[in-house]
Amino acid sequence: MEPLLDAKTCIVTGGAQGIGLATAEMMWKHGANIVVADVSEVRPDSTTQFSDRFLHVACDVTEITSMERLFDRAVDKFGAVNVLVNNAGITRDATLSKMTEQQFDEVINVNLKGVWVGTKTAASYMKGSGGGAIVNLSSISGKVGFFGQTNYSAAKAGVVGLTKAAAKEVARYGIRVNAVQPGLIETPMTASLSKEILQEKIREIPLGRPGAADEVANAVLFFASELSSYVTGAVLEVTGGRFM
Ligand SMILES: NC(=O)c1ccc[n+]([C@@H]2O[C@H](COP(=O)([O-])OP(=O)(O)OC[C@H]3O[C@@H](n4cnc5c(N)ncnc54)[C@H](O)[C@@H]3O)[C@@H](O)[C@H]2O)c1
Repeated sequence: MEPLLDAKTCIVTGGAQGIGLATAEMMWKHGANIVVADVSEVRPDSTTQFSDRFLHVACDVTEITSMERLFDRAVDKFGAVNVLVNNAGITRDATLSKMTEQQFDEVINVNLKGVWVGTKTAASYMKGSGGGAIVNLSSISGKVGFFGQTNYSAAKAGVVGLTKAAAKEVARYGIRVNAVQPGLIETPMTASLSKEILQEKIREIPLGRPGAADEVANAVLFFASELSSYVTGAVLEVTGGRFM
């Protein structure tokens, strides 16, 4: 296997578990220095895979000073940042009538403002070092709108607009910005779905099953590496064909 990210430094926000952790592991296997930035510690059953080329930084993506500290730490340890994966995300599902203002704000803050904070900070660091790649996690919920997710669908649709606007602004510095739109993926975020809801969702998926975190990580790897050197402002659906 040809390493696709040899000696590149990649920051993965929300990389302590789920899609972020799978992405961090895959990038590490492809030769990257990995910085996991999360409000939580990396799940202990996974840390053994990162024997070296690894840094965990406590970071809240909603705070610009926290993000700037993260980039300073990454540059101190590895010399540069080449890739940022804006993956941190939360859900606070409720129908419109039950959703509180706080639930709306929390989701917009982490899932949309967090991506803006990350993209803004990464662009300012990457400008001075010859470019890089930014990969944003949207969701198919942002394409079609999900019942009970007015907050989350709005944030994830916003990530698409943000990705395209930023791609236009930073292309001149050699920075590419792309987004991945996963469908139903088996991670801690979806672990609490009831069997009935899960079956209902699976019926909508042409490939007939939920996706694995690794299958999303493959798409992120594509955007992070030179395999996508002529791709920017793109949105790749990783949904098993659901809502194509
Ligand atoms: N699992 C799915 O089916 C699915 C589908 C579409 C999109 N997504 C998106 O993919 C991304 C990863 O999802 P996942 O399923 O792995 O989620 P997850 O809940 O398993 O992991 C999310 C991680 O983000 C971290 N995080 C939360 N708030 C943070 C903050 N303020 N600052 C830093 N880190 C923070 C959490 O600690 C956690 O480690 C999210 O953006 C999610 O919206 C997931």
